[in-house]
Amino acid sequence: MIISPSVYSMHYENFKEEIAILNKNADWIHFDVMDGHFVPNITFGPMILKAFRRSSDLLLDVHLMVDDPEYYANSFGKAGADAITFHYEVFNNLDDCLKLIDKIHAMYMKAGISIKPGTPVETIFPLLHKVDICLLMSVEPGFGGQSFMEESLDRAKAISEYKKNNDLNFILEIDGGVNDLNAHRILQSGVQALVAGSFIFEGNMENNFARLRKCE
Ligand code: DX5
Ligand code: ZN
Repeated sequence: MIISPSVYSMHYENFKEEIAILNKNADWIHFDVMDGHFVPNITFGPMILKAFRRSSDLLLDVHLMVDDPEYYANSFGKAGADAITFHYEVFNNLDDCLKLIDKIHAMYMKAGISIKPGTPVETIFPLLHKVDICLLMSVEPGFGGQSFMEESLDRAKAISEYKKNNDLNFILEIDGGVNDLNAHRILQSGVQALVAGSFIFEGNMENNFARLRKCE
């Protein structure tokens, strides 16, 4: 399994200690970028990602929840991102998504497509041969600490079935409400990468990593 802790939930007053624990225990670092328009919340800009780049060699997994993903893909790419995932719902059409996927690849980054809980999974099937990551939202994007939506398991199964039937290679990642009580079922549904925010950062982080690893 790939664990991608969401630094939305990090305690920034303890940055040094927490980044050291991430460097030892995490596979990727998940970076939730919110612009106050696409979602009603604002998080970080590229300057903050640069600080992570200087502090870690882990893959920086940027999740753009913004109205203008092309602009943000550029600036986060320059700041050191390794992967840029944007939302299908920003464009609501496949052609614009394909163009941006190509642009992200031209910047030598992995490209990902994400869908909100209300978007039928079949909508993005025509994009899956082009992406490196498919990020399935298991909460409404915008805030950390929400409860996992159980219907996401069937959605994950449908995507992984399509992936198997078409011999595709993207990584299926899930985001929202992941914890040690649902991770096993999530992984059984074909998900490979778990984003976890509040679960990882609340309490003893090393124990939390170990509890999640046991769910494999
Ligand atoms: C929600 C974000 C998530 C979130 C995950 O908009 O995309 O990455 O921070 O946090 P938890 O694990 O607390 O649900
Ligand atoms: Zn996210």
